[in-house]
Amino acid sequence: MSTRPPDGRILARRLIEALPEPSLIVADGRVLAANGAARAALGDHVDNSDIRLVLRQPAALERLLGDAPAAADEVELVGLGGPERRWMMAVAPLAVGWRFVRLTDRSEAHAAERMRVDFVANASHELRTPLATLVGYAETLRAEGEALDPETRARFTAIVDDEARRMQRLVEDLISLSRIEGERFSPPTDAVEIDWLFEEAKRNCATAAGDRGCRVEISVAAGLHPVAGDRAQLLQLYDNLVGNALRYGKPGSTVRLEAAADGATVRTRVSDEGEGIAKEHIPRLTERFYRVDAGRSRAQGGTGLGLSIVKHIVERHRGRLSIDSEPGVGTTVTVILPVAA
Ligand SMILES: Nc1ncnc2c1ncn2[C@@H]1O[C@H](COP(=O)(O)OP(=O)(O)OP(=O)(O)O)[C@@H](O)[C@H]1O
Ligand SMILES: [Mg+2]
Repeated sequence: MSTRPPDGRILARRLIEALPEPSLIVADGRVLAANGAARAALGDHVDNSDIRLVLRQPAALERLLGDAPAAADEVELVGLGGPERRWMMAVAPLAVGWRFVRLTDRSEAHAAERMRVDFVANASHELRTPLATLVGYAETLRAEGEALDPETRARFTAIVDDEARRMQRLVEDLISLSRIEGERFSPPTDAVEIDWLFEEAKRNCATAAGDRGCRVEISVAAGLHPVAGDRAQLLQLYDNLVGNALRYGKPGSTVRLEAAADGATVRTRVSDEGEGIAKEHIPRLTERFYRVDAGRSRAQGGTGLGLSIVKHIVERHRGRLSIDSEPGVGTTVTVILPVAA
């Protein structure tokens, strides 16, 4: 006994239903079949709709409804299914007036590309500012150095030195960031003692506190296992967090470094009694160059890359980062790291 093959339309519907990307079959300008992914992206009404009302983008429609589109041709669709979404539309002819349409989600790639462009623009801007000061003062010193009184000359030289060091920090942070990003798929292998990390971070930051008189208190639970990590990167992480706690803490207040076991992880905390951070800023703190008060951060020599470096280090360690803050009370940054095997 032979079974009758299903009707072509049913077959087409089943076929595209099996595809993960939004896919449509269009016949004479009308959507004959749309799969689940297409309904999710474009709305439940797409089935049976006029394709012109679904896509609304002349270039795409022309490609789709025009004579025999080349299968390899792709058109970009902007804003379909949400203002930030980007799709590539591929069209293949099935029969006269029939088209198979497949959409590939490019939103993420597009967002990443935009971030890259913004990053280059921001980095150039951050470098240009100290560079302009540097060039200006160097020129003055060269042209009028002899005529300047020793005090003025010393002041100008100090400015040149400060700005050059600022640029150096910025470039070092940029290199660091790209190195950490480059290593994100290779899990770190050192077994790192938290005691050692905290003591080192405390020592490194002693100079940063200067005469602000901040104290650093360390409290590590007894018998804590080492964490799986990259020693240099973890040190950089806590240097950054302690640096922030000291920089944005109240003069004379205490910065606490705490660590305790939490299942197969170690929960570490860096807390300060500083001015805190308003809620709306918290989600953006790990963006590159994001600062709550740019003038103030710059005046203190900040690059605005510290927390972004922290975030990337935590990600490479398969850890977790959270920032809790209460304006006027203080900030606590929690970093959870896996224990070493
Ligand atoms: N402990 C904290 N208390 C209050 N504000 C903070 C704290 N930590 C960070 N911030 C805010 O978050 C911003 C971003 O911090 P981040 O460490 O990324 O940059 P930065 O400190 O300005 O410069 P640097 O790259 O030199 O560390 C800071 O400019 C500051 O406004
Ligand atoms: Mg910082």
